[in-house]
Amino acid sequence: MIESRHPDDAAIEVNSLYKTYAGKNGVLNEALKSINLSVPRGAIFGLLGPNGAGKSTLINILAGLVIKTSGNAQINGWDIVQDMRRARGSIGVVPQELNLDSFFTPRETMELQAGLYGVPQSQRRTQEIFEALDLEDKADVYARSLSGGMRRRLLVAKALVHSPPVVVLDEPTAGVDVELRQSLWEYMRELNRAGTTILLTTHYLEEAQGMCDQIAIINHGEIVAQDSTAALLARLDRKEALISVDRDIDNLPDDLKRVGIEARITGKRVILIRFSPSQVQMGQLLDAVRVAGFHITDLSTRDTDLEEIFISLTTNRPDGPLHSDIIDPRTDPLETSRSHRQPCNGAERI
Ligand SMILES: Nc1ncnc2c1ncn2[C@@H]1O[C@H](COP(=O)(O)OP(=O)(O)O)[C@@H](O)[C@H]1O
Ligand SMILES: [Mg+2]
Repeated sequence: MIESRHPDDAAIEVNSLYKTYAGKNGVLNEALKSINLSVPRGAIFGLLGPNGAGKSTLINILAGLVIKTSGNAQINGWDIVQDMRRARGSIGVVPQELNLDSFFTPRETMELQAGLYGVPQSQRRTQEIFEALDLEDKADVYARSLSGGMRRRLLVAKALVHSPPVVVLDEPTAGVDVELRQSLWEYMRELNRAGTTILLTTHYLEEAQGMCDQIAIINHGEIVAQDSTAALLARLDRKEALISVDRDIDNLPDDLKRVGIEARITGKRVILIRFSPSQVQMGQLLDAVRVAGFHITDLSTRDTDLEEIFISLTTNRPDGPLHSDIIDPRTDPLETSRSHRQPCNGAERI
């Protein structure tokens, strides 16, 4: 394995990176606009962004497959241009596209790749990688007869041939079945525990939220946020409560309007309120409802999730969208509240 240039170098460091593709009719497409990114060693880092945001462009520049327009990038301290050989030796990339040569078997593919990276025979670990990825059964069949899931596994195997300290996966689970998704993540976590830095791109928010300890959000070729997953989630400081009461509500209690960011009547007897947990306690909200003469019959709350942060950062709405604007049932406050109902006997339960 290639050592890092200095012991304290980041796994990936990207500075003022630009990429402009020359499009049709001379129209330029600015795929990356001054990207700055730092991936600490030992992280499972998520690069999250919608289609066309520039994720693959960035990954492919790091992999040496796309030529940057300007700026620079280092892998474990090795510059992708000046120290190209060592930079490439430090990174293993699983591309988004299933680009395999169909006339080779997985075993031959691995041998070729090992040769390409100059891995000595004694250090080749094809068998071990195949076992970990459950590829042994298919090791000697032509790649063209492999299923999509098996091809994806082989691409992962190929990226690991030279035991790279940094592994990058570009949308590895798009179109992949749940079982493979889980086994892939298990294996990535195992590699990570053994010291490998993992960078993955995804447009699945849940995946990033569940897998990554740090996340950068990219949109239109720009990094719009980079933080620990926890800090990113705390950033919006928003909570939502649904308060059910014992009689029809004609007017919202004034105190409630005062303490909440937003309050509205969502059913005859249900109030939806958004508030900042750092500013307002649940008890204040409940008191405001009681003071107005209502008895509370039910209460449910919901924390912010990455989806809201993502939407608020990738749309130009400074206050973020209302949950009710999101059609996805997973984020519908009413849907969510069904699965998170909490009993309420008037005491504060939060
Ligand atoms: N080879 C290419 N030639 C021209 N434009 C490209 C090429 N690859 C990507 N692009 C454009 O660059 C932008 C970013 O694409 P990409 O990096 O693939 O985004 P993502 O991986 O986040 O979906 C898009 O507008 C895409 O159309
Ligand atoms: Mg892509």
